[in-house]
Amino acid sequence: MVSRLFRLRVLALATLVSFAAFIGAACTPDHPQSTFDSMGPVAQRQEDLFVLIFIAALIVFLIVGGFLLFTVLKFRNRAGTPRQTHGNTRLEVILTIIPAIVLIIVAVPTISALFYIADPPSGEAVMDINVTGKQWFWNFEYPDAGVTTSNELHIPVGENIRATLRSDDVIHSFWIPKLAGKVDVIPTRANDMWFKADEVGVYWGQCAEFCGIAHAHMRFQVVVETQADFDAWVAKQAEPAAEPSSELAQRGHDLVTARGCIGCHTIDGIPGAVGTIGPNLTHVGSRTRIASGILERTPENVAAWLRDPQEAKPGNDMPNLNLSEDDISALVAYLDGLK
Ligand code: CUA
Repeated sequence: MVSRLFRLRVLALATLVSFAAFIGAACTPDHPQSTFDSMGPVAQRQEDLFVLIFIAALIVFLIVGGFLLFTVLKFRNRAGTPRQTHGNTRLEVILTIIPAIVLIIVAVPTISALFYIADPPSGEAVMDINVTGKQWFWNFEYPDAGVTTSNELHIPVGENIRATLRSDDVIHSFWIPKLAGKVDVIPTRANDMWFKADEVGVYWGQCAEFCGIAHAHMRFQVVVETQADFDAWVAKQAEPAAEPSSELAQRGHDLVTARGCIGCHTIDGIPGAVGTIGPNLTHVGSRTRIASGILERTPENVAAWLRDPQEAKPGNDMPNLNLSEDDISALVAYLDGLK
């Protein structure tokens, strides 16, 4: 008969293996927010540092754990009191030198990486972007182009980007897992970071500091494109909002003022539409997602958002305007035309 103790041991081992597999699965590079699939030099440097420190820690763990296990097994449950010893100078010197060597192995690449991450490489072109974290979305301003957008950051491939991070309210944290690690976004001061994307593509960003009820939904997208595509995008963004192209859209255009949307949202070209509480909507129709990245920008999702914003993204500051279905259709038509 299999003993109870044996069965308990098998169960404990199985639990440990499943737990390790569960934790390990979080490291899959395929995940859009995985840090194990670096797509730029800053993220790569951070990943390399992580792997190095992880390996060093693993070796230390195996050696210390191995000695501990050996000692526990060899000296277990013997009759009598063990012989007491007091100090072994040679052992103590060795056990001081080894951690010192481990610390040097970790410190040298860490300090060098810190300096690398602190400043964009000198002598290379740098593009400045002002990032503002707000409860609960992101604003991106391109000072040289005079363009402002929300939630969808466009950058040219292979160009160094220097982001100046500011907050309008509480502490946020700016994080693009595949391009660069987190930097806190703090009210009353500006923090800097730089990054570069090596390949064209769309990368996810996420607020990484708890900042209130919709923190987990404070996402954004980074669209990395060729210089030509980027230039075309900037030129388009610099234009004022498109005129409504249908009667329905015209009604939506009028509702934006009549229902007070302009108090919170900027729409370049509509008199008085200079609100900054919510995202800039001047070119909302050119974006692929809404609600700080959590919803695809389909007519159904925009309608659902207008119908009950709290249902779509709990905690956000958009009021429920109790719009009629006719008004919602008109607004959806107008917003969709803001390419
Ligand atoms: Cu902003 Cu969390």
